[in-house]
Amino acid sequence: MSGVERGRIAELMEREQSRFVAAHPESKRLHERGKESLLDGVPMNWMTRWPGAFPVFVATAEGAELTDVDGNSYADLCLGDTGAMTGHSPAPTVAAVQDRVARGITAMLPTEDAVHVGEEMKRRFGMPNWQFSLSATDANRFVVRIAREITGRPKILVHNHCYHGSVDETITTLVGGEVRPREGNVGAPVDPAETTRIVEINDLDALERELSHGDVACVLVEPALTNIGIVLAEDGYHERLRELTRETGTLLVIDETHTLCCGPGGYTAVAGLEPDFMTMGKSIGGGVPIGAYGFTEEVGRRVREHTVPVAADVGGVGGTLAGNALSLAAARATLAEVLTDEAFEHMIALGERFESAVAATIAEHSLPWSVTRLGCRAEYMFSPTPPRTGGEAAAALDEELDALLHLYMLNRGILLTPFHMMALMSPATTEAHVDRHSVAFAEAAAELTGA
Ligand SMILES: Cc1ncc(COP(=O)(O)O)c(C=O)c1O
Repeated sequence: MSGVERGRIAELMEREQSRFVAAHPESKRLHERGKESLLDGVPMNWMTRWPGAFPVFVATAEGAELTDVDGNSYADLCLGDTGAMTGHSPAPTVAAVQDRVARGITAMLPTEDAVHVGEEMKRRFGMPNWQFSLSATDANRFVVRIAREITGRPKILVHNHCYHGSVDETITTLVGGEVRPREGNVGAPVDPAETTRIVEINDLDALERELSHGDVACVLVEPALTNIGIVLAEDGYHERLRELTRETGTLLVIDETHTLCCGPGGYTAVAGLEPDFMTMGKSIGGGVPIGAYGFTEEVGRRVREHTVPVAADVGGVGGTLAGNALSLAAARATLAEVLTDEAFEHMIALGERFESAVAATIAEHSLPWSVTRLGCRAEYMFSPTPPRTGGEAAAALDEELDALLHLYMLNRGILLTPFHMMALMSPATTEAHVDRHSVAFAEAAAELTGA
């Protein structure tokens, strides 16, 4: 489907693997040593999914650049898969963290920073009530529990090929129209068919059908898919989603963790969405762990009605370090001084530059590929037109080509988000960083097509 000959991919892969191994002796040594104490030599198993015979070990990362332990430097378009969308270690966040770290990191009590962050989240996202967790996963997990509690309904509904973190109810896909555990789902507590309904994004008939059962507590969706490649919502999709959720008494949760790339108020602000809950995490702490969920006055009223004060600490929503002083100091500085309106203008312009260079190369080499952009995030996919659904996006994946292109870029000083061909811009990213990718992408296209 990707229009590239398999033999050519294998040939180039062999060459790029040799080049990688030769340039990373210290990473290789650390990986071997790591295997003595860490599963697969890495602190978290999915880090082995980077292409290359072993993972690259990081020495330092600053702004939009990263240097590995062998002294190779990279234009970082992965940015910790959005955890570092602010650029690495932005100065205002570092200063706030340094100040807070010497004055108490976590105390299970609120700080003044929490109030500032709450006020800023309310201003940006329009939600009047905010709570904080340590990750976007937890924000989603807590919201799913709350939605079930206040509606008294057992199920949630998600998009096919969604990703919302390691939330049990969401690690599922449609297989032949049936809800099944997603491939690789580790130790599912129950069959996801018991907890989850799934529809393809942009399939309004399926959405109407699945909500008509009246057993869905909440729809939990990214406003555009970003984790199986980017799949945009078609015109009218969000309007109808909101109508159908309201008609069926279903709560609507918009997960903005990645779509915050659309602007300071995320996709929700750009498109004027009216969710009942919003969730996010990753970038709002400038790299310091934090997650957040916001909700409307009406939801707040229902939450209070259902809260059992003496058991609020053991009810399944919370965490000892959630809302800690350090995370909130980092978020206050990041929101006020790093993820500003001006920063987004710069980042989105770079996203456009990336997109147009990739589109030009695809056209020049008549490759059956496409490129899609969402604010300052862009992605190329191995299908001639952008996929309309998660299923179509999954069908367009080409693991061999994907691995080759990631390695090809890495060997030329560019990091792309692993698992798919996604690039993200930070306030510290420059045109030169984008152009480094554009040149390497044109070189790769020429080599792949024998031009
Ligand atoms: C849309 C979305 N929501 C939630 C998460 C979970 O974030 P975390 O792994 O930081 O908990 C992710 C992670 O990629 C995500 O893409």
